[in-house]
Amino acid sequence: MKNLKLLLGLFLVLAVGACEYDFVAPEEIPDIPVEEDLSFATDVLPIFTANCASCHNSGGRAPDLSAANAYQSINTAKYINRDNPESSLIYSYVKAGASTHTHAQYTGAQGQYILVWIQQGAQNN
Ligand code: HEC
Repeated sequence: MKNLKLLLGLFLVLAVGACEYDFVAPEEIPDIPVEEDLSFATDVLPIFTANCASCHNSGGRAPDLSAANAYQSINTAKYINRDNPESSLIYSYVKAGASTHTHAQYTGAQGQYILVWIQQGAQNN
């Protein structure tokens, strides 16, 4: 009888333990070393395409973050400040925890990508 309870206990622990890991982790872009050269096309644009372009597109909200127009739209003094990257609107307005943009926000890692890309000169690369 004691063994049965022990077995049942073990079963419960295993079952609950298995469930704990049964969720699909949200896809996170890993933190990146600042030395790495970032590319607009492969590091920045996919963030806009996945999280922003549904609202920010031609005919939608400014800035137009659709693949064809994103760089031209944000490569202005309003959105990118190369002298003070952290105050760039395309970063500061949308960064995690900002109270400005309630529709969507970058994850910490996404914000890091945007900021480092601006620090590296915000090139159309
Ligand atoms: C659900 C729709 C929606 C999504 C998704 C969205 N936005 Fe917005 N965004 C808006 C609206 C509406 C505004 C207008 C001002 C406001 O409410 O903040 C705006 C404003 C902005 C502004 C300020 C524009 C200006 O000229 O003052 C920026 C920058 C911006 N969004 C960037 C982004 C980025 C980057 C993403 C993706 C991470 C994103 N938005 C996702 C709806 C959206």
